[in-house]
Amino acid sequence: MRIDIITVLPELLTSPFEASILKRAIEKDLVEVHLHNLRDYTSGNYKQVDDYQFGGGAGMVMMIEPIDKCISHLKAERTYDEVIYMTPDGETLNQSIANQISLKENLIILCGHYKGVDQRVRDMHVTCEISIGDYVLSGGELAAAVLCDAVIRLLPGVLNDETSALTDTFQDNLLAPPVYTRPSEYKGMEVPKILLSGDFPKIEKWREEQALERTQKRRPDLLQ
Ligand code: ADE
Repeated sequence: MRIDIITVLPELLTSPFEASILKRAIEKDLVEVHLHNLRDYTSGNYKQVDDYQFGGGAGMVMMIEPIDKCISHLKAERTYDEVIYMTPDGETLNQSIANQISLKENLIILCGHYKGVDQRVRDMHVTCEISIGDYVLSGGELAAAVLCDAVIRLLPGVLNDETSALTDTFQDNLLAPPVYTRPSEYKGMEVPKILLSGDFPKIEKWREEQALERTQKRRPDLLQ
């Protein structure tokens, strides 16, 4: 997979890819992530990327020209499966969307700022609009990092134990069951006996029951 991220704040998007699982995925060549500073696609001394909105009103709008130049430049090099725009009015990210995106080859992710991008960018280039939740961030960069993390960890070979993404919370519309590690007793708090029994069919059944109970209590909407 190749991901090209278009941003006015590339510095916000360096550290997420420099640690742990995402770093290893890049080192293993399972994913390439390229950051593109939108200001490199501006003309003029001010490297202007935003302007006042037509019709008046508070807040600046990201201009079409630098974004179109950047996306057109990328599209001239290769074909892209999706151009994703991170925006609070997009479709809310969930595990199913992350699964679908993880099957793509080449992605462009556009990070919005201010009041968002000129609508014509969306009409011309964007194929998919994603929100990471019903709240407004100062820009799309952290949302893009969240999306990349959710997607990259699903790529084959990224997780050591490939089956472990399959047992994640949400992977089958259930929350994950509680987990424990050593010590088996801490300040009088004991690990459920069943987990120490070595009876794996029974342990599996217990985990399924716990997952269902937790989902019923915390996220009944997932069971509908
Ligand atoms: N940009 C600002 N807020 C956002 C959100 N909640 N999701 C995606 N992109 C955003």
